[in-house]
Amino acid sequence: MIIRRKPVWELPESSITPARFVLGRRKLVAGALAMGPLSALGAARAAHYDPGRPITPEHDATTYNNYYEFSDDKNIWQAAQALPQAPWSIKFDGLVEKPQTWALEDLLKQVTLEDRAYRHRCVEAWAMTVPWRGFPLSRLVALARPLASAKYVQFQTITNNDAMPGLANPVYPFPYTEAVTIEEAANILPFIATGLYGKPLPPQNGGPIRLVLPWKYGFKSAKALVRVSFTEKRPETFWRDLNPNEYGFWANVNPDVPHPRWSQAHERLLGSGEIVPTRIYNGYGDQVAQLYAGLQNEMLFR
Ligand code: MTE
Repeated sequence: MIIRRKPVWELPESSITPARFVLGRRKLVAGALAMGPLSALGAARAAHYDPGRPITPEHDATTYNNYYEFSDDKNIWQAAQALPQAPWSIKFDGLVEKPQTWALEDLLKQVTLEDRAYRHRCVEAWAMTVPWRGFPLSRLVALARPLASAKYVQFQTITNNDAMPGLANPVYPFPYTEAVTIEEAANILPFIATGLYGKPLPPQNGGPIRLVLPWKYGFKSAKALVRVSFTEKRPETFWRDLNPNEYGFWANVNPDVPHPRWSQAHERLLGSGEIVPTRIYNGYGDQVAQLYAGLQNEMLFR
């Protein structure tokens, strides 16, 4: 475990970072100490992280991918091997105490990795269940030290013209960006993945580091993160920018709200090919539905 000594010039965390990130972390630490680290983790897993479905075969999850920087074809896994995975750095900027750029290996020394299997539902009505390895998004936000005025967290993906031929397609508004509210970021589900099936996250799945938001359509889960920015205004996001009638900011999974061109009532499981009913918030409503209380005038499900 890494214990970071505070330089004397650092302000107390609570005056900068919204209290829920700081408090959440302290409570977690206190809880873990009281129960013993293993029992605390075990309890959390049992409650929220049992996907209730067979894990998708690794071959299917790593050879059928959406990654428009390479191509709008699903078969990009070989081309994606050309994207260098190291050295890799991530910039934190916008409404933060101080902009920072972290080398990925240094950032990873500040976090505790855990395994979480999540259901993953693409807006195109296919789904998979994948065992991610990573750490909570709330931990990343705490490291970025946003100001209390920050209301949104925006994620930006790498643009490597040498490795990514799809970037030359003028139809798409690259770089790929996505965003969540600061309240969503503080929830327990959002995850930053650096591994898959117990191995480093492969480039085609967003290696070396990506976002995972299991209750939202998969396009919100941006791959290959290089920049995390904090804003007061809602940022523009890749798919909404491209086609706001079909893709919105919230994009929460809902079987009762069809895509303008197809039904969202069912999903096809990669691997088995089985068709199963889709569940609201992809089955994670107990954890996230309260985030949207009072927002019924928003287009929450597209
Ligand atoms: N991230 C980037 N940078 N570029 C993309 O094209 N596609 C999204 C999302 N993240 C995409 C992205 C979409 S549409 C989906 S469904 C998921 O990644 C797919 O993730 P997977 O290939 O790991 O299943």
